[in-house]
Amino acid sequence: MYTHRRHLISTLDFSLDEQNRLLTLAQRIMESPAEHGQRMGGRIMASLFFEPSTRTRLSFESAMLRLGGQVIGFSEAASSSAAKGESLSDTIRVVSRYADLLVMRHPKEGAALVASQASVVPVINAGDGGREHPTQTLTDLLTILSIKGEIKGLTVGCCGDLKYGRTVHSLVKNLSRLGVSFVFISPEELRIPDSLRAFLDENNLQYTETRHMEEAMPHLDVLYMTRVQRERFDSEQDYLRLKDMYILDANKLKSAKPDLCVLHPLPRVNEITPEVDDDPRAAYFEQARCGVFARMALLLMLSGVEPGLLPVQTQTTLSTNTIVCKNPRCITSVEPMLAHAFHPHNAETRTYRCAYCEGDVKGIEI
Ligand code: CP
Repeated sequence: MYTHRRHLISTLDFSLDEQNRLLTLAQRIMESPAEHGQRMGGRIMASLFFEPSTRTRLSFESAMLRLGGQVIGFSEAASSSAAKGESLSDTIRVVSRYADLLVMRHPKEGAALVASQASVVPVINAGDGGREHPTQTLTDLLTILSIKGEIKGLTVGCCGDLKYGRTVHSLVKNLSRLGVSFVFISPEELRIPDSLRAFLDENNLQYTETRHMEEAMPHLDVLYMTRVQRERFDSEQDYLRLKDMYILDANKLKSAKPDLCVLHPLPRVNEITPEVDDDPRAAYFEQARCGVFARMALLLMLSGVEPGLLPVQTQTTLSTNTIVCKNPRCITSVEPMLAHAFHPHNAETRTYRCAYCEGDVKGIEI
């Protein structure tokens, strides 16, 4: 079945062609934002943040207002009827009848997919637990393009919490189709998830892993620093042990290329010392600025005001009550009315992949 209503749930939802159009539009907006000032006039964006945010929420709101549209929403679950026990699906069924587009952040993995299934308007994933953050990736790509001119051939280092950092998960998946090589810098406990490593291996992508930032530094064209995601740890002790593993300072930058591009999705805690902010290679505040233009382009395209997104085939999932996803971070763990759903993943090992959190369940006959 083909659907005309498009959403952005995963970073790979847009084809390369569609993504290139979006990035070209974002660059055009960046050059002359005023030309686009009324294009979303009369439309409403709902901004539904069940988890804290500064950049994503405010850059989306800024983007919509700069396009002449209006914004409704909430910035914490406590001020919505989720606090009274309303299911996510019901909240979305209702709010999608009040707005033309929904932007949602939620602490559970797969929540954005649930929202897209319940919504009658396009849904944008503004972060679903530790899984994905596709609009941060659009921001990152726009920043790299505007600084480097081209993405193909770059060596990109991702440093810090690569296990729980959803910005890295989306970025790596997306860059994997753009001809880059990766260096992953993390302690053993915070390595990229197995599923992402399997994705890279299955697609024959080039990557190396190291614990040592100093070892990687001279080879990098882009260094993507990340915060250790305290809110995703089960143990505070583990967080405290790992949180200061990597601190980028002026001394460490001495061995870096003169045109290195240092990115960070922000917020930072102490992964980058303030002295680095004055280094011309520090691009993270410019990155935050790019977020507004990337999101303006996304709003225009998803609402259909700007053409360029094609109808897509909806993926068939296997709904079942015989097996359940055991991942406590999955949206299915808190939505009792939601049927568990899986895609067959590996016939030999009889592995099924949860349609929501992408966790694997092995050795099962359905
Ligand atoms: N980069 C990012 O997602 O920041 P916020 O958590 O402030 O939205």
